[in-house]
Amino acid sequence: MRKTIVHISDLHFGRINKPLIQPLIDKIKAVKPDVIVISGDITMRARTKEFVAARDFLKSLDFPQIIVPGNHDIPLYNVYSRFFRSLNKFRHYITEDLEPAYRDDRIAIYGLNSARSFALVRGVVDMNQIRKICAEFDKLPQDVLRIVVTHHPFDLPDGFGAHNLQRKPDEAVKLLINSKVDLMLAGHTHKSLIDHVPKQANGRGYTPLVIQAGTSTSVRTRRESYYNSFNIISVDYPRMIIENVFWDRESCEFFSKRSREFQHSDKGWGVVGIN
Ligand SMILES: [Fe+2]
Ligand SMILES: [Fe+2]
Repeated sequence: MRKTIVHISDLHFGRINKPLIQPLIDKIKAVKPDVIVISGDITMRARTKEFVAARDFLKSLDFPQIIVPGNHDIPLYNVYSRFFRSLNKFRHYITEDLEPAYRDDRIAIYGLNSARSFALVRGVVDMNQIRKICAEFDKLPQDVLRIVVTHHPFDLPDGFGAHNLQRKPDEAVKLLINSKVDLMLAGHTHKSLIDHVPKQANGRGYTPLVIQAGTSTSVRTRRESYYNSFNIISVDYPRMIIENVFWDRESCEFFSKRSREFQHSDKGWGVVGIN
């Protein structure tokens, strides 16, 4: 049975590209995803009015949601709030659950908070939580897609710079690969990637994928200078299609920029089609 995941990220309410909000809602509703993954940076500066706007946006999407915080969801300038009430607003307005999970007969998704008060930009992974997630993955049949979600990516291609990553991700990725993780979904770079194989997979006999969503709603499009984007992951094991959807400001439409089709084997995921 086919399952569909919409992956959005880096919403940055407070600095949003307003004209695309309703079309984005309409597009996601048309996709009818089984679950929506939101990989952090919900707000720009963790202000109350930003969280209220983000909450209203997320409430308009009546699908199961897995939401993790990003570095922008922790107050930056107010030192007391940064260290003593770091995720209070996120927990109040978005979700109390900082270890969100979604499970059905085809997909298992675990979210992990990688944002920390003492780390301005980089993420920090919680190894105890990684071990807990791996223990859950180890109980699953092979045909259930194993997904972990963080704001900060576990790995990126050369050229991105280490400041984009989690600190010391190697041990975490090795444990996840041992538990046959399929997808590591993240954001933070505002640059989409739909087929990156993490370097930690080299020589380990199993290939998961690092999937990045660009910024879905903010004006901080950075490297993708003109476009907002998100991903649609559609899996019918052992086949999976990952589609990269972009917003064109001139035509005010979402369009499918590229997609990859993958086939699963006992060695993990391999590309079988490029569009
Ligand atoms: Fe961001
Ligand atoms: Fe970020």
